Amino acid sequence: MAKRLKGLFITFEGSEGCGKSTQVKLLCDFLKREKRDVLHIREPGGIKISEKIRTILLDDKNKEMARPCEVLLYMAARAQLVHEKILPALRKGSIVVCDRFLDSTIAYQGYGCGEDIRFIRSIGSYVTQDILPDITFLLDLPTHKGLSRIQKPRDRIEQRSLQYHNRVRQGYLKIARQEPKRIKVIAGHQSREAIRRIIENDIRKLLP
Ligand code: TMP
Repeated sequence: MAKRLKGLFITFEGSEGCGKSTQVKLLCDFLKREKRDVLHIREPGGIKISEKIRTILLDDKNKEMARPCEVLLYMAARAQLVHEKILPALRKGSIVVCDRFLDSTIAYQGYGCGEDIRFIRSIGSYVTQDILPDITFLLDLPTHKGLSRIQKPRDRIEQRSLQYHNRVRQGYLKIARQEPKRIKVIAGHQSREAIRRIIENDIRKLLP
């Protein structure tokens, strides 16, 4: 069960190069223009400890990293971010806009790497203290198109095979089918403006 908190928790998800970071920024700009109290963060990262963990996770020199280590580092970064920023902000009634959250671990380490999804959900519920996004935008784009958009040099995760990234994309679509109320799938090939309008319309309905 998701906790009931005063604020609004919005997350963005998608595979590499889907355009979500641009949309996160556009949404935060819109909310600020509406004079809303907004916290814009990203995962893994967003605060000192979690940004340090991000550097370890994405460093392409860390090729020997074991999958359980990878899962737990993503979770550790998340645990700190939830504790330090997300929960306090939601408790005081802010709008939290997060670039990636637990769905990323289910898609990338669960569906992508084959790690146990039930385990990921269970440890995920521990580190997130059972908070769930109120709404999640999943920007969906054919894998090869997304990968062609990302800049080089590629990080440790981006360097993985096309097949891996295809599994991530299909994993995301499966999660979205399981939770259609929370997760809104948006076709990522549309123009930046068209996507911005869809997101803003959905968010307007949720604003108090
Ligand atoms: P970003 O490029 O969107 O900032 O995300 C960093 C990378 O980390 C991206 O390749 C997706 C990956 N990732 C995971 O594999 N698992 C996770 O739980 C998260 C949050 C990100």
